[in-house]
Amino acid sequence: MRLTVAIDGPAAAGKGTIARAVAAEFGLAHLDTGLLYRAVGRRVLAGTEPVEAAQGLRREDFADAQALRTPDVAQAASQVAAMAEVREALVAFQRAFACRQGGAVLDGRDIGTVICPDAEVKLFVTATDDIRAGRRFRELREAGHEVTLAAVAADLAARDRRDRARATAPLTPAEDALLLDTSELNIKEATARAIVAVRAVFDRLQAAGAVPEGQ
Ligand code: CDP
Repeated sequence: MRLTVAIDGPAAAGKGTIARAVAAEFGLAHLDTGLLYRAVGRRVLAGTEPVEAAQGLRREDFADAQALRTPDVAQAASQVAAMAEVREALVAFQRAFACRQGGAVLDGRDIGTVICPDAEVKLFVTATDDIRAGRRFRELREAGHEVTLAAVAADLAARDRRDRARATAPLTPAEDALLLDTSELNIKEATARAIVAVRAVFDRLQAAGAVPEGQ
C-alpha cells in the first residue's frame, strides 16, 4: 500500500497533533521531521559541526524528547535547517520513511513541496501568530520551562521568518495542498477536518485494492 500524508505549516500551528491523530485513525506510521532538525541543532549546540551532526544522527539523539523541545534547541534547529547540506543529509531517511509499506504521515515544512511532492494527501496547517504563540507558551509552561509569552512569540516569529526566507526548501504551501486554518478550531475539530480529507483518498485507494481491508 502506498499512502503518504504530508502535513506542513509554520511553528506551533498544530501539525504534530493532527499528524498523530491521522496516523492513529488510519494505522499509518508517523514521522515528526522537526525532531530531525532539532536533534541536529542540539548536537550543534554541544559543539558538533552542522553537516557532520546531520550525517551522523543516531537513535540516542532522540532518546530525550524533552531536551529536544526547548526554545534554544528550536532556534538552533531553524538555523541548521537553512543549510542546504544539512537538509540534503536528511532527505533519504525521510523519503524511505514516506514510502514504507503500510503508509506514513510526515509533518514538517517541506514535506509536500520537496520530500514527497507526490504525496497522495497534502495539508498546510496554519493559525494566527497570536494563537500559535499562546499554544506554544502553554505547552512550554506545562513542560516546566520559565518562558514569557513575548519571548515565545518572538521565537516563533524569528523561526518562521527564517524558514520562509531560506533559499533551500522554504516554508510554503504546495500548490495542491489543502489549507487548514486551526485558529478557530479546537483539537477535536481540527483533527476531524484532517481525517475527512484523508478519508476521501484512503477510501478511493482501498476501493482500488491498494489498502489492505480492515485498516
Ligand atoms: O514544533 P515546531 O512547529 O515549533 O517546530 P518543529 O516542527 O519541531 O521544527 C523545528 C525547526 O526545524 C523549524 O523551525 C524549521 O526551521 C526546521 N524544520 C525544517 O526546516 N523542515 C522540516 N521538515 C521540519 C522542521
